[in-house]
This record gives sequence, C-alpha cells and structure tokens, in this order.
Amino acid sequence: MRKFVTISVIFTCLFLFGCEPQAPDVVAGVTSDSWGRLPDGREVTLFHIVSPSGMKMDVTNYGGIITSLTAPDRNGKFDDIVLGFDSLESYLENTPYFGAIIGRYGNRIAEGRFSLDGENYELALNNGANHLHGGLVGFDKVLWDAEPFSDEENHGVIFKYESADGEEGYPGNLSVEVKYRLTPDSRVVFSYKATTDKATPVNLTQHTYFNLAGPASNSILGHELMITAAEFIPIDSNMIPTGELRAVDGTPFDFRKPVTIGERINAGGKQLEYGRGYDHNFVLPIVATSLNLVARVFEPSSGRIMTVITTEPGLQFYSGNFLDGTLVGKGGVVYEHRSGFCLETQHFPDSPNQSAFPSTILRPGETYSSHTMYAFTAE
Ligand code: BGC
Repeated sequence: MRKFVTISVIFTCLFLFGCEPQAPDVVAGVTSDSWGRLPDGREVTLFHIVSPSGMKMDVTNYGGIITSLTAPDRNGKFDDIVLGFDSLESYLENTPYFGAIIGRYGNRIAEGRFSLDGENYELALNNGANHLHGGLVGFDKVLWDAEPFSDEENHGVIFKYESADGEEGYPGNLSVEVKYRLTPDSRVVFSYKATTDKATPVNLTQHTYFNLAGPASNSILGHELMITAAEFIPIDSNMIPTGELRAVDGTPFDFRKPVTIGERINAGGKQLEYGRGYDHNFVLPIVATSLNLVARVFEPSSGRIMTVITTEPGLQFYSGNFLDGTLVGKGGVVYEHRSGFCLETQHFPDSPNQSAFPSTILRPGETYSSHTMYAFTAE
C-alpha cells in the first residue's frame, strides 16, 4: 500500500507539475564522520549533505573538496557525476585539484610576479615558471574550519579559513568564507566572501570535474556544451593570456549554440595546441553583481543537464586534457584523457598583470563577494 501511494505521488507530481520525483526514503540534512588524519595529526571530517530531492553531496574540510555528488538521469536514477578518490590518502598523494576550493588566486599568474601599490611581490611557482591555483599549498590543500547548517529546505556546510600574510607570497591576512548549499530544486550553490588587512589579489573558484554520464564513463567528448560568451581569452605557449579578448565567431571556441565538446577539439590551430584542447577563459556577458546564466551542458545518454549561473565575469572551460589514465579514482575507475570537464567561474587569468582586465584586487574595508550555482535537471 505504501509503495502504491509513493508511486502515485511520483506520477501525479511528474504529470501534473513536471517536477522531479521526491526520492523515496530521503532524509534531508547534514551528517558527518571522521575521514582520517592529516600527516600532522589533525582530524579531517567528511560531511554528507542530502537535499529533499534526493541529491547527495559529500564534502570534506580538507580543501573543501566535493568527493561525490549525485544527480538523477531522465529516469530518476541517481549517479555520482564528479571525479575524485575514495580515500583522503589519495587526495594527499596526488590530485589535479579534484573537487577543491581554489585560492587565493584561481588560474595562472605569469612568473608568479605582480606589483601592487608600488611593491613587487613574488609568489610560489608551482606550474613551470608560473603560479597556478594559489601555489604549492593553495586553499585546496588546507584544512578549513567547517560548520554544517540547515535552513528551511537548504542544507550545507560553511567553510572558513584564515590565510596568513605572506602565505605563498601573497600580501595581507585574508579571512575567507565559502558556503556550499544544496537546494530542494537540485542546485549546488557556492557563496564566497573574503576580507583583508592589506591589498591583495583574490580570485576564488571551485574545481570540480564533472562527467554527467556517470562514474564509469571515460569520455566527456559527447557532452553538448553551450557558453554564452562572444569572446575568449587567447593564451601563449605557457598558457598565459596574451591580453587580447578575441571574438569566438568562426572559431572552435564558439559555443553560443550547443556543440559537442568533441566536435572541434582536434580542429587544430595555435589556441587548441597551446591548451592541449580547451583550457581557456571565456568572457561572459554578465550584468555585474547579478546572477547570470552563462553555460549549459547536456549529456545525451543520461539526459542530465547542468546549468551554470554566476556573478563572475569569466569562465575557465577545461576539458580534462592533463588526465592521462594514470589516476585511479573512486571504485577503481581509471581517469582517462578528457574523462572530466571543469567549468570554473572566476575573474580572468593573470589579472594582476593585465591592467585592461577587471581588477582582482581586494582592499582593506572591502568585502569580496561571489556567487555561483550549478543547477541539475534531466530531459
Ligand atoms: C587549469 C588547467 C590545469 C588544471 C589543473 C585548470 O583550472 O585551467 O590548465 O591544468 O586546472 O588540474
């Protein structure tokens, strides 16, 4: 009888209202357990966030890493759609920033150098001659303070971190807060805040790798991608912006109409060669401080759709070109070349050295504020 009632509710809901089925036996909320210890003995926690729609997200306070995220396909079947590892040890050993919070500066700063208010700064170099994703120990590799929260139908975790003056070469003590929230309508919402006591560059983002076909799928090339950008940022052979904003018209970077990622990835040309595929920032037609729909990904075999909504002016589309089959992920799945993609909302790369790019400098008395949502549906 109970089964019948549940099934009727699902069908009434689907046919009358077109809403997603409420997964049976869902207990929405946040629970947590210990996930082991760092080499220095500090304990790491894994939080399990469940939304009323049945979506589940596991996140740890080590690097704010999303280790698992489930979303329903067109038949209501939930699958894990993010790349990652089963254990803390694997994340400590070697990870290409799977699922992590990125800071103080997401993306590259040329030669790790910039000048600000008449002072020259030298950052840690961790990507050839450049500084990438905050340096040797960026925000992806620190232990964050974490507090679970539930308000109305939203459930999540608030992460806090005090980045000391001089950390990885950056000026100023920076207080950072990143809030992760799962909403009842299957959105993952990221809200970033920061304040400083000395002017510093700040560019925070989230580095989850997605494969909407599910965990065992070893390619993202069949995903259809739409990005609203009319321009992208060309890079040099060291993956540093040349400073130009180039029109996407007539190039493999025109995603204004949905195109599969694989369709033009091997089309040749200097940009795809330098990026080893797509690894470029797109210039978003944003209305500053409002949330703008900037990208949509559709995976035909599952019907899953991911929509990206953000306040940021840039979107790094990275097609997982450095994945090469050497990393063994969750459940023993080998992460092959281009088996995950990232859509990282952020300011443009190397902005501290590019006066024509929107500023990434945060000053004392100001509050850095940024919001991004990934919304999941299926059709
Ligand atoms: C960058 C890639 C880099 C990757 C690291 C991405 O955000 O754009 O160039 O290799 O992060 O996993």
